Amino acid sequence: MDTKTKYLGLELKSPIVVGSCGLTADVDKMVQMEQAGAGAVVLKSVFEEQIIHDIKRNTHMFAPIDNYGVSYEYIAAHVADDSLEKHFSMISEAKKRLTIPVIGSINCFSYENWLTYAKRFQESGCDALELNMAILPYETNLSADDIERTYTQIINTLRKSITIPISIKLGTYFTDMAKSLQQISWMGIQGVTMFNKSVEVDIDIENESMKNASNLSTHEDMFKTLRWVALMSKKMRCDISASTGVYTADDVVKMLLAGANSVQVVSCLYKNGIDTLKELNAGLQSWMQKKGYDSIDAFRGKLAVLPTDKASVAMRTQFMKYFAEIS
Ligand SMILES: Cc1cc2nc3c(=O)[nH]c(=O)nc-3n(C[C@H](O)[C@H](O)[C@H](O)COP(=O)(O)O)c2cc1C
Repeated sequence: MDTKTKYLGLELKSPIVVGSCGLTADVDKMVQMEQAGAGAVVLKSVFEEQIIHDIKRNTHMFAPIDNYGVSYEYIAAHVADDSLEKHFSMISEAKKRLTIPVIGSINCFSYENWLTYAKRFQESGCDALELNMAILPYETNLSADDIERTYTQIINTLRKSITIPISIKLGTYFTDMAKSLQQISWMGIQGVTMFNKSVEVDIDIENESMKNASNLSTHEDMFKTLRWVALMSKKMRCDISASTGVYTADDVVKMLLAGANSVQVVSCLYKNGIDTLKELNAGLQSWMQKKGYDSIDAFRGKLAVLPTDKASVAMRTQFMKYFAEIS
């Protein structure tokens, strides 16, 4: 069964990609992922603040640390000064030891001169760059227009600085989600990753302090991604990597039927181990065999909402069927 596919213009042996996480900061683990059948790996992100810290330390370029406040101080105190050099060496080593595509990753939230470092990812050998744009509407003085302008500025500048494919990892906080997704796909990028999962915040009532909630997704989380991939895949001018809540081979098949070009897994590997990739690939192949599909393209997007369908009517019909069946 041929599970070859194209994502961001790259040839993948399998559409199952390991998403950005701690496991993809370790070359030995990435070799294990390739052996278990990963189609590509997205490296652990470098934070924008890390790059600004490097710029400030090593060059006379203006580094706007005032914009970052305590997030900059945190990075400056917790990250070794040679962390970026180590990261670029890790990329070079990964490229030597892996045959699958290695996708670099930057987590950013502002239009600043961290963008000058994008080229370093390309020079280190990354086959593509995924930008996790963690621009969240937390500030009361920021409008949707302000936020969308930042997306446009970052994407336009990035496109001028590198020639490798660009993928934008997005969250779900958009005022006009369908329109924003479509417009981002028109900006000359090669892909979007739908969706990033925000780190949830919890409160420790004993110490009366903020803490992080569990960052692993649950299987239920995949339905939001599935809906939006099905709604948007035929309306976007770039590839889609479906992410969040994918745990089983059936989930992979569903995302592909909805129109995804690749499917990312992270929590599933943390919970069940890297070798789960073997089960996901075997399950995908056996489903294709049972259904008589000899390639991913033979069924990819079969259940996507067509551009000629009215998306709101398609979704409303699903909603009505659900309530009609409950007595
Ligand atoms: C431990 C851990 C570390 C992560 N680190 C990153 C990161 O560095 N950059 C990034 O873009 N996403 C990161 N993520 C988010 C994942 O790439 C992914 O978007 C999210 O976990 C949802 O996918 P999943 O349901 O398959 O876990 C991380 C997730 C986890 C659990």
